[in-house]
Amino acid sequence: MPEEQLYWEKVKQVIKNLARAYGFERLDTPILEAADLFVKGTGLYTDIIEKEMYSLKTKGGDWLSLRPEFTPAVMRAYLENGLSSWPQPVKLYTIGPIFRYERPQKGRYRQSEQANFEIIGQQDPVLDAQLIQLFFSISKELSLKNLTVQINSIGCSNCRPIYRKKLVSFYKSRKKQLCLNCQKRLQHNPLRLLDCQESKCQRLAQEAPQIIDQLCDDCHNHFKNVLEFLDELALPYILNPYLVRGLDYYTKTVFEIWPEGEEGRQISLAGGGRYDNLIKLLGGKNTPAVGLAIGLDRIVDLMKVRDIKISPRAHPVIFLVQLGDLAKKKSLKLFEELRKSGLEVASSFSRDTIKAQLKTADKLKVRFSLILGQKEVLDETIIIRNMVSGIQETVPLVKVIKEIKKRLRSK
Ligand code: HAM
Repeated sequence: MPEEQLYWEKVKQVIKNLARAYGFERLDTPILEAADLFVKGTGLYTDIIEKEMYSLKTKGGDWLSLRPEFTPAVMRAYLENGLSSWPQPVKLYTIGPIFRYERPQKGRYRQSEQANFEIIGQQDPVLDAQLIQLFFSISKELSLKNLTVQINSIGCSNCRPIYRKKLVSFYKSRKKQLCLNCQKRLQHNPLRLLDCQESKCQRLAQEAPQIIDQLCDDCHNHFKNVLEFLDELALPYILNPYLVRGLDYYTKTVFEIWPEGEEGRQISLAGGGRYDNLIKLLGGKNTPAVGLAIGLDRIVDLMKVRDIKISPRAHPVIFLVQLGDLAKKKSLKLFEELRKSGLEVASSFSRDTIKAQLKTADKLKVRFSLILGQKEVLDETIIIRNMVSGIQETVPLVKVIKEIKKRLRSK
């Protein structure tokens, strides 16, 4: 809605400026992609693919989906466009809508907007930390405080299978104590049992083996380094052994950013992590990568809840009032000339009484109105009305831009 646009403009502007400052280049991917890309990339047994994708079959028989996230699409674009031959890491960002068939409620929408960042081609833990730093630079510019990083490591293809086995054997003997959903997940996605919101599953998760104790040396060191970088940057984080994220491609670091005090509601403002195997899975070379997506609807919602003020758009400084057919015709051209000279002009060409037009000018808080009537057109003059004092002066039409700029300069 119009009154919300101020927030959206501000949020997107801050993100674009900081993306550039941190060395990200923009790319855009199509809203519709082959469904298979997400089934393969996001993972068959994830909530997104099992329940939340909007898919359709075209007349030609192709299965397409409205993108439920960006990451697999960005990786497809990276591979198809030969970005692997660019100097690595390649840093890409995009902003746009994603679509998930979720139960709509505050903070959870079927169409929502994400700003998505990916750093492709290097495994250095400093990059994981830099993405988190980028988020905090964005939130600082938006005056959003009291946010924390929830962070965990979910290991790699060496150590996770061993952990997974331990986890499954822990849960198998307790299957009946799980919610129905988790009983189903146990076979294909046992890690998700750790972040189930059902209280009986949460109780069990507290006793379950923790992955942090099972990490291989490589994953352990990587995670330790990420945390050291966060300490160095003095960024607030909480080690959360139950954070596993709902997407299949993650390896090593996973993180979410939550508003403080909202831990129970699962309203993350942003989420991300490392995914060192995804590009290979999609047909590329072995290429490590790490990324982050920020939920812009949630950012805007939180700014409104916290009553964060945004300076309104600059008011127009002039209002063009016209009276009669001749003046209306003339004022259309004059409007263009004023605008091109760099002045912010407003007008309501369709409203005919001078009273109504001056009322609109008042509402817009302009400093001057320019009044063009039948007489002025014939005399080739125009009236400048100071909207504060009400004083009116008639000036030659050819000099109006100069005259108005002179008056705007003097306070
Ligand atoms: P995600 O956690 O699914 O991660 O989404 C990231 C953020 O998008 C969430 O933290 C949330 O703010 C917002 N979001 C997601 N779904 C909705 C919704 N239905 N309504 C409102 N906001 C929503 C990803 O999408 C990964 N692709 C992030 C990533 C990038 N990982 C690596 N690179």
